[in-house]
Amino acid sequence: MVSLDSPITIIRPEIIEFGVGTAERLGKWASDKGYARILVISDAFNATRVDTLGLKGEVTVFADVTPEPDTANLDKVLAAANAADAQLVVGFGGGSAMDLAKLAAVLAGSSQTLRDVVGPNKVHGPRRVALAQVPTTAGTGSEAGIRALVTDPETMAKLAVESIHMLADIAVIDPALTFTVPARTTAATGVDAMAHCVEAFTNRKAHPMIDLYAIEGTRLVGKYLARAVKDGADAEARAGLALASLYGGFCLGPVNTAGGHALAYPLGTRWHIAHGAANALIFPHVLAFNTPSVPEKTRAVMDALGRKTSGDVQSVFDAAYSFCADLGIEMKLSALGVPDSDLDAMADDAFAIRRLLDNNPRDLARADIRSIYEAAY
Ligand SMILES: NC(=O)c1ccc[n+]([C@@H]2O[C@H](COP(=O)([O-])OP(=O)(O)OC[C@H]3O[C@@H](n4cnc5c(N)ncnc54)[C@H](O)[C@@H]3O)[C@@H](O)[C@H]2O)c1
Ligand SMILES: [Fe+2]
Repeated sequence: MVSLDSPITIIRPEIIEFGVGTAERLGKWASDKGYARILVISDAFNATRVDTLGLKGEVTVFADVTPEPDTANLDKVLAAANAADAQLVVGFGGGSAMDLAKLAAVLAGSSQTLRDVVGPNKVHGPRRVALAQVPTTAGTGSEAGIRALVTDPETMAKLAVESIHMLADIAVIDPALTFTVPARTTAATGVDAMAHCVEAFTNRKAHPMIDLYAIEGTRLVGKYLARAVKDGADAEARAGLALASLYGGFCLGPVNTAGGHALAYPLGTRWHIAHGAANALIFPHVLAFNTPSVPEKTRAVMDALGRKTSGDVQSVFDAAYSFCADLGIEMKLSALGVPDSDLDAMADDAFAIRRLLDNNPRDLARADIRSIYEAAY
């Protein structure tokens, strides 16, 4: 674990607007900046309500972002971005739309391709267009960060691009935009936000400056997620989750996730299980596995979730499992259509995600990963 005197870099959007009813502030900001040609990158649902952003001028809407986008989806976005020649790119949707907006902002009109920029700090700057992010799910925290994830359909792996040039100039977080998120997606995305916080908190690279956000984000999910799943129009609960998601985004930049996300990714890339649902299914297994290495932090996580445990591995597993299952999340791989013949290939894929596994507080051998998939089956 790193300590208080360890160096850390904090990068945030310059302006963060937060609160119910703030969505239309984006239009005012864009007008004040003089942006007349605007491209909104969105999914089919959110594309129908771009007017809530109050944008003026020549507004082009790309409405075809798919969940867990792949490189073909990115190519369509880039074609739209090249044609629109916008001064401002807006990501309007969940993590999928926001991640593609980041890539559109740096790749459109550039000589660099996706392949050139995969990994940290490969994007050539400066960026020629402005970038705004407006999340409509409370999960990824992508609005605050510098990473974008796209699935490579050939290898079924997530390509991760990380660059300061993908940082938004403004993030507008209006919890009212999340009122329409269905209960199942609310539960899954909420657990994703919590997983960002928990995996940063128990991380080998955990830092006191980030722990503050990590534990508070976890507490907000513990307090509000069940409420929002029950009543999607509960404004206080939706705001609590939007904040937890933002805090999760703060955790991703300087610390990032660890074993939980590494084991969850193959469920999404190979079997198209929603990112948050995959994280929830894996969460109790990795938290329990890590407990011997980070007993105090694990106890703090469970306290923050409002689930007291005795601290032993089995009680941590049971409490974390019931937290997710009580939200109505399917916790068995077999029930999600994953054949047991794929567990070996999934373990190989997960074991190759060194950028995350190396952050895990306890070494996860390939055999440990295979055992976790078996136990989750
Ligand atoms: N950049 C990062 O740091 C980061 C972090 C975590 C996850 N991600 C990525 O984000 C993606 C997942 O994002 P997500 O979980 O937000 O889901 P998503 O963006 O894929 O959206 C999920 C579904 O919900 C719908 N939807 C979105 N907002 C809605 C609303 N307000 N009302 C009704 N329906 C709505 C979408 O149309 C879509 O069908 C994955 O590709 C994941 O890898 C990125
Ligand atoms: Fe995530």
